[in-house]
Amino acid sequence: MEALQKLKDSALNCQKCKLHEYRTQVVFGVGNPDADLMFIGEAPGYNEDVKGEPFVGAAGKLLDKVIFEETGLTRNQIYITNVVKCRPPNNRNPEEDEIVACNPYLLKQIELIKPKVICALGNFAARTLLGKNEGISKLRGRIFISHGIKVVPTFHPAAILRNPNLIDTFREDIKLVHILLNEPGEEKDSSKKGEEFEQPSLF
Ligand code: URA
Ligand code: SF4
Repeated sequence: MEALQKLKDSALNCQKCKLHEYRTQVVFGVGNPDADLMFIGEAPGYNEDVKGEPFVGAAGKLLDKVIFEETGLTRNQIYITNVVKCRPPNNRNPEEDEIVACNPYLLKQIELIKPKVICALGNFAARTLLGKNEGISKLRGRIFISHGIKVVPTFHPAAILRNPNLIDTFREDIKLVHILLNEPGEEKDSSKKGEEFEQPSLF
């Protein structure tokens, strides 16, 4: 069996953190296992918990639209997942112990998919990937390198829905992602241009 599918099967009954008590189902991730581009959000919401797929609500529609308009890519050409795979009750923020418990799944997904570029959506994804405590407004639109993979943080699409003034900046960041995707040189080594940083303890 394909390794990513195996990992997904192993996650479906996971009880490693308290979020398992509230979920309808684990929302593991969706898309192309060979994707060059991976999006990482925060946590499943109501619609995702019901459907078992990330970003299927209003924020997801906006995300799909901007990705398609700025890169020409559709959902089945990329890979989408979240920092935690189970919906927090009442859509509260994921807590530190939950993020830590779930992190091995995310790390294994990144290792197996080996995308060329990761786009971190919002504070939780950016902090989890980069181990930085700066807010997303400071981190967004910059290129970081984590384990040889370029990481571009940007606003969470739900933030764009709340504040439509952010849409142009969001589009700019997805344009940057597109540019990086099309850069020559497949090698994922740390000599690539980008901001180096101390590996966070989660990694
Ligand atoms: N928000 C997220 O962070 N992830 C989803 O899957 C849906 C909404
Ligand atoms: Fe397991 Fe992650 Fe769900 Fe917690 S959020 S129960 S660690 S799959």
